Amino acid sequence: MLDQIKERLNQVRNPATGAMLGSENRWQTVTLDNGKLTAEYNRDGISPTEKRTIETEIQKTLSDLLEADKILIKTTSTQSQDVFKALDKKGEAPAAQPATQPAQLKAGHGTIGNKKSVPGVGKIIAIGSGKGGVGKSTLTANLAITLSKQGHKVGIIDADIYGPSLPMIFGKREEKPRSNAERKIIPVESYGIKFMSFGFFINENDPVIWRGPMLGGVLNQFLFDVDWDGIDYLLIDLPPGTGDIQLSMIQNAHVDGAIIVSTPQDIALLDAKKGVEMFKKVNLPIVGMVENMSSFICNHCGTEHHIFGEGGVAKAVKELGVEMIGQIPLELELRTGSDAGEPYMTQEKFQDRPVWNAFLSLSEKVENHFNPTPAQPKAGFFSKVLGLKK
Ligand SMILES: Nc1ncnc2c1ncn2[C@@H]1O[C@H](COP(=O)(O)OP(=O)(O)OP(=O)(O)O)[C@@H](O)[C@H]1O
Ligand SMILES: [Mg+2]
Repeated sequence: MLDQIKERLNQVRNPATGAMLGSENRWQTVTLDNGKLTAEYNRDGISPTEKRTIETEIQKTLSDLLEADKILIKTTSTQSQDVFKALDKKGEAPAAQPATQPAQLKAGHGTIGNKKSVPGVGKIIAIGSGKGGVGKSTLTANLAITLSKQGHKVGIIDADIYGPSLPMIFGKREEKPRSNAERKIIPVESYGIKFMSFGFFINENDPVIWRGPMLGGVLNQFLFDVDWDGIDYLLIDLPPGTGDIQLSMIQNAHVDGAIIVSTPQDIALLDAKKGVEMFKKVNLPIVGMVENMSSFICNHCGTEHHIFGEGGVAKAVKELGVEMIGQIPLELELRTGSDAGEPYMTQEKFQDRPVWNAFLSLSEKVENHFNPTPAQPKAGFFSKVLGLKK
């Protein structure tokens, strides 16, 4: 059977290159022991999202041979930069911080009790999508920055166990959160945003299957054991999908609203509808739906092209009785900024571009929805756009 497994593993494609993992010589070790498979591949150049696609493919291709819990997929990387180091792995201790110590997470299922509010936090907004890769994390990061530049204190929980990408987007891959004297985890800060991510705690080599049981308990800790005191908006970047994992994550705490992200393709929309239904089922008010990659505006001629179709999200929101609160066009710099750890909305050179204005308008919609006390925009950033005095 091992030969059969190896043959199938070799045929799994690397979404980054389109080639088969076998032809790229990615597989390091593939062993079968007591009916349990351990397979390790080299993940150099493969993003967290692509890694997840590969893991799903592996599960699929082996489903008739092995049960899911008999498969351990491990990865190795020669690019040390690319590795999310587990916190409890020794590593070098950061410079002396006597009152703090390395933060630790306790694995566990977590219990779903009564909804509790998170102390010191204004509004909690869950950001979900039915389908992966629609731009949830990109949107979360840039919306957070926009809200923050408008004078709010903003935090983010990256609840995506499969492909935590916020450490990358915020240029903090190597960070190791610490806990303070009250044993609260101190969030990592970047561009004025405080955030906490599974990426800080997951060892790159941990098999994805192991991560499942940690979920409930860990999100609970991200909500209640992190020092979020003084945060006006706490955004939760949920893992894609509309299953139990997503539900259990939002059932513990008093979440104030949900934003659903979709791209205009029919298939993404269909999943987005499921997302709306899921949030409605748990009585979570829906702030609205955002259409990402809604169109491509040509840099040369300025013409707008609707690559993924037009009008689909508008029709869907009407059917579902929710509001369309944003349309973010495709723009290469939104991606390159994220990949480089310099989110788009931190770069003032993009002011007045369609994507820039789309985030301004989205954050305004979010603010209006929650109708908070007026905030003081930071001088010199949005003041011009908003017509405010410096
Ligand atoms: N409007 C856009 N223009 C150009 N690139 C975009 C845009 N939105 C997102 N991207 C890029 O698309 C890819 C997927 O986006 P992102 O990781 O934010 O999606 P996601 O929904 O969080 O995915 P996942 O399901 O893996 O968590 C990223 O490379 C991102 O930089
Ligand atoms: Mg994401």
